Amino acid sequence: FIAGPLAGRKVLVTSGPTHEPIDPVRYIANRSSGAQGVAIAGALRDLGAEVVFVTGPAAVPPPHGVQVVQVETAAQMLFAVEAAPKVDAAVFAAAVADWRVDNSSAHKMKKDGSGKAPALAFSENPDILKTVSGWGDKRPKLVVGFAAETDDVVANATAKRTRKGCDWIVANDVSPETGIMGGTENAVTLVTETGTEAWPRMSKSETARKLAVRIAKALA
Ligand code: C5P
Repeated sequence: FIAGPLAGRKVLVTSGPTHEPIDPVRYIANRSSGAQGVAIAGALRDLGAEVVFVTGPAAVPPPHGVQVVQVETAAQMLFAVEAAPKVDAAVFAAAVADWRVDNSSAHKMKKDGSGKAPALAFSENPDILKTVSGWGDKRPKLVVGFAAETDDVVANATAKRTRKGCDWIVANDVSPETGIMGGTENAVTLVTETGTEAWPRMSKSETARKLAVRIAKALA
């Protein structure tokens, strides 16, 4: 047994989509499969980290050898992140719903025969990445966010890094023609405090390994 570079380090990873209920049988979701978050958690574990993996209802099963916390909504995800022990680094790969349904119903909504559709009202979800980036003593040394964009990827990601107060942004183009969302490959640009770095298109597991190695270097 050889201890990895992240032995003794704790890392939190959020992953997957969130589901925001409309009523007990319906919800609003997004196309995140959770594949990149699963790969990142596995890569961090492989380097020896103790990983807390907070996941929404993802299509891909969580990796072995990590502490899994399963949640459904953005509010639950924030609660789970706040409840986790202090970590050295946190990677926010989850595709958190921006809005939740304000007037969700405790009972299944039914057609009332009038031909009128119900109107949903929304309110903004808490921004988990921004919240954790703003923590004082409990703030992880390294906070990594993701930026899934369809336009002006690097410019938007650079602005997002500042706005969210995180250390790094992993930016990717999720335009449908890239096949990245739900696919097995990723092409990302890493935006740090010192500049941007375009990584070649590679599998999500290779992207995860490269990111885990960078995280290990930053924490060393
Ligand atoms: O603002 P946007 O959703 O594009 O930011 C994406 C990044 O912020 C991702 O790292 C995502 O996990 C995180 N995020 C979050 N909580 C939210 C919205 C996004 O942690 N409510």
